[in-house]
Amino acid sequence: MTNKEKLELLKQKREEAMLGGGQKSIDSQHKRGKLTARERIHLLLDQGTFEEMDIFVRHQSRDFGLENTRYYTDGVITGVGKIKGRNVAVFSQDFTILGGSLAEYYAKKIVKIMELAMKVGMPVIGINDSGGARIQEGVLSLAGYADIFLRNTLASGVVPQISAIVGPCAGGAVYSPAITDFIFMVDKISHMFITGPNVIKAVTNEDVTFDDLGGANTHGIKSGVSHFTCENEIDCFDKIRTLMSYIPSNNMELPPISEHEEEEYDLESLNEFVPDNPNKPYDMRDIINKVIDKDSLFEVHKDYAENIICAFGRINGRPIGIVANQPLVLAGVLCLNSSIKGARFVRFCDAFNIPLVVFEDVPGFLPGTDQEWRGVIRHGAKLLYAFCEATVPKITVIIRKAYGGAYDVMNSKHIRGDVNLAWPSAEIAVMGAKGASEIIFKKQLDVAEDRRKLLDEKINEFNNKFLNPYIAAERGFIDDIIEPKDTRKKLITYFELIENKVDFNPRRKHGNIPL
Ligand code: HXC
Repeated sequence: MTNKEKLELLKQKREEAMLGGGQKSIDSQHKRGKLTARERIHLLLDQGTFEEMDIFVRHQSRDFGLENTRYYTDGVITGVGKIKGRNVAVFSQDFTILGGSLAEYYAKKIVKIMELAMKVGMPVIGINDSGGARIQEGVLSLAGYADIFLRNTLASGVVPQISAIVGPCAGGAVYSPAITDFIFMVDKISHMFITGPNVIKAVTNEDVTFDDLGGANTHGIKSGVSHFTCENEIDCFDKIRTLMSYIPSNNMELPPISEHEEEEYDLESLNEFVPDNPNKPYDMRDIINKVIDKDSLFEVHKDYAENIICAFGRINGRPIGIVANQPLVLAGVLCLNSSIKGARFVRFCDAFNIPLVVFEDVPGFLPGTDQEWRGVIRHGAKLLYAFCEATVPKITVIIRKAYGGAYDVMNSKHIRGDVNLAWPSAEIAVMGAKGASEIIFKKQLDVAEDRRKLLDEKINEFNNKFLNPYIAAERGFIDDIIEPKDTRKKLITYFELIENKVDFNPRRKHGNIPL
């Protein structure tokens, strides 16, 4: 063969590989309302930066007619590329080849790219669209999954791992995305479940549609499996690129700093922001948006456990993780789901050197048999544990209520919060005035001529004595009580101060977070 012929052969093979399962399959993929694996990579990465690896890999199976369908790539496209100039490893499952089903060599390709990512310290982004284990390859497919699960686990906390679900992802296959840090799902085309509607009907006699069972809204609102719900695939890859702008490439780096010019901020209005009536709700987002860099709020789990807000943002161009109680939903109480949501976010930020700020207005943990029986004790402990173990710079601003155990949990000084600030509207106490007065003055109230009058007096007394930030400040539990309009300035100053803080946890194999 001449050099020219050799080059021609290479070109031919590459062209064949680029066609995936063939034009007919590509057309059916589009008809299903889905993009192809390559179109997705194109949307995700900076233009022209994708370097494909293992394009010529093919399966070695000889069973059930597979020997006649030896497509190049074996159904998954893997490689490296850049997002806003930074390296990332990518795999994109190609549904046009045997339904994107995962098999021996397919899994080896993913493992290879993950191991490379861990060696060089770059995030792994997995684009999932697959019929699951390639049935014809039997246990080899299952082994392939297990090889990936192991790498997902070993890479956890070393490099960020992001999953886009843009098609089916069923059975044991869901556990790879589930171990990764963030899951993105797209309305209508994404489905995740352990067992599908047919099996459910047979076993429990329940009727459920694919969408209700495991669609983007179900996992974004009800189960919390998904962190980001996207309108369409363009939105999905756009959001992944945005997420990347807040996070470092690995656990040895600091998050990327964005250019920032200090603009005019409308901060004066914060002094009058908190309602005089302590039971009146307000939207905590309004405070956050005024205090952090303009338009930098990027919420995680936006529609799940909305009584807590977890979000990325920036202060002076530097990424931060925000955890905030949301008085607008359930008065901002902590419950089982919000504790899990908060804990996972805090642990991500801590693993990847992202400083944390807490905006606190929490009346305590949600009472009730439902919460107790579903384990609010062990789930609430997750959030407490996560804040206790986090060694990144941590600041708390107490806006209004900081009641009971929730005061301790929400990054108090006692659990290594570096700086705790309070607004004059802060109420730091074991509980609200009415509940407290009914307990500690019970005997007097029982014999009082005018119970209502005495209770009001006691409530007033309790309010004046305890429902303020001064007692905590007298003991140094609060570093300063600040005018709300100064919050941004204080956060900038203190984050700069503690940016290089050093703190350690004891040496051990690993802690035992109450799972
Ligand atoms: C081999 C598969 C496949 C699979 C789909 N295909 N899934 N081939 N192994 N798992 C093939 C189909 O035969 C078809 O080939 C092509 O992919 C497209 O599939 P369609 O069924 O035409 O597409 P659609 O109607 O969109 O349905 C998609 C689907 C369905 C819902 C995913 O294909 C399906 O139910 N597949 C089986 C899912 C499943 O049970 N997988 C195993 C789960 S167990 P042709 O040649 O006709 O185009 C599992 C265990 C993992 O994954 C354990 C890890 C620990």
